[in-house]
Amino acid sequence: MTQRGILAFSGGLDTSVVVKYLQEEYDMEVITVTVDVGQGDDQKEIEAKAKKLGVIKHYNIDARKEFVEDFIFPSIKANALYQKKYCLATALARPLIAQKVLEIAKKENVTALAHGCSGKGNDQVRFDITLRSGSDLPIIAPIRDKNLDRDTELIFAKKHGIEIDSVAKRFSIDQNLWGRAIEGGVLEDPYNEPPEDAFIWVKTKNLPDTPTYMEIKFDKGIPVAVDGQVMEPIKLIEYVNKIAGEAGVGIVDHIEDRVVGIKSREVYETPGATCLIEAHADLEKMVHTKHENKFKSIIDDEWAYLAYSGLWQDPLKQDLDAFIEKSQNPVSGIVKLKLYKSSLRVVGRKSEYSLYNHKIATYSSESTFDQRMAKGFVELWGIQSTEAIKLQKKLSKKI
Ligand code: ARG
Repeated sequence: MTQRGILAFSGGLDTSVVVKYLQEEYDMEVITVTVDVGQGDDQKEIEAKAKKLGVIKHYNIDARKEFVEDFIFPSIKANALYQKKYCLATALARPLIAQKVLEIAKKENVTALAHGCSGKGNDQVRFDITLRSGSDLPIIAPIRDKNLDRDTELIFAKKHGIEIDSVAKRFSIDQNLWGRAIEGGVLEDPYNEPPEDAFIWVKTKNLPDTPTYMEIKFDKGIPVAVDGQVMEPIKLIEYVNKIAGEAGVGIVDHIEDRVVGIKSREVYETPGATCLIEAHADLEKMVHTKHENKFKSIIDDEWAYLAYSGLWQDPLKQDLDAFIEKSQNPVSGIVKLKLYKSSLRVVGRKSEYSLYNHKIATYSSESTFDQRMAKGFVELWGIQSTEAIKLQKKLSKKI
């Protein structure tokens, strides 16, 4: 029986090498699937690349709307930043891409599922777990299975006439609507400052001398309008990416703990995500109680951890989703951002669900808050702490 493999194909170095490997080393017919999650590639060009590599069939799937509505929006609701920094752009796209591959795999009666992930990264975890949750077919990952490194891949690509563009030779890039990840090359020394030309989305030079203001309107945790203009989800994210990028906002550079335990230096351009998460988190503080704020930040951290770690469909993640969804009921309002020479600051917020009460908060004569109530409260609030501190002092004198 002819072996037939299906592969999520980006047209980049790894997945191009994998097509050839599947054909030559595994003696397979290959079907490629390119899932558009807003990476901005020319789909026709990628299809041509796949055909040139000799695939028997190629699929192009536009999953941008699903990506925004079912992955990006929930991540905004969760203020999702892995290790407080990374907006999960790559991590969110992988389960969706794998899901699309599975759908076509069923239709095409394939005998194996393939991906181009290495054994060092997180993407293998996200792909394997999603694929395994929906199929028992063997998973083939030639880069991992054959322990291939990038240098060997580049030589292999050259030998097989696979064209790789010059940026891809210097860095390993992954991008979609939610962000652009830049890895490898000179960035592998964590002390090296990223070269300016690594950045495409965020301006680093000749930034405007006047601040840029952006007013983001949320409805139940979802951004629906910017600067008074209601926008479709995809357009809205593209717009915020563009405006924030032009103001120099959205570069992230940090050391990240991968699922497999390796520490990696990651550089990202995430202008839209940086602004939207900052604005959303700020609005939540205004409409949620102190108790909700404290507890939700724990939930948010766990949500980001699970999404990062390939456990998108885990029951715990579903439970957290239910909590987060319910918590978004009052998260409606407008947040005003000020962007100036790469800095981002929330400078205003308003909401009909605001728990901020001017009459209570004000230091002026308009105050309705009777300060005398506070005395007894503070006494009780600190009762155990003050007892413990006094006791510690007493006992330490004895020693
Ligand atoms: N460290 C990020 C993650 O695991 C981004 C990785 C992007 N690079 C890639 N080649 N897939 O989600």
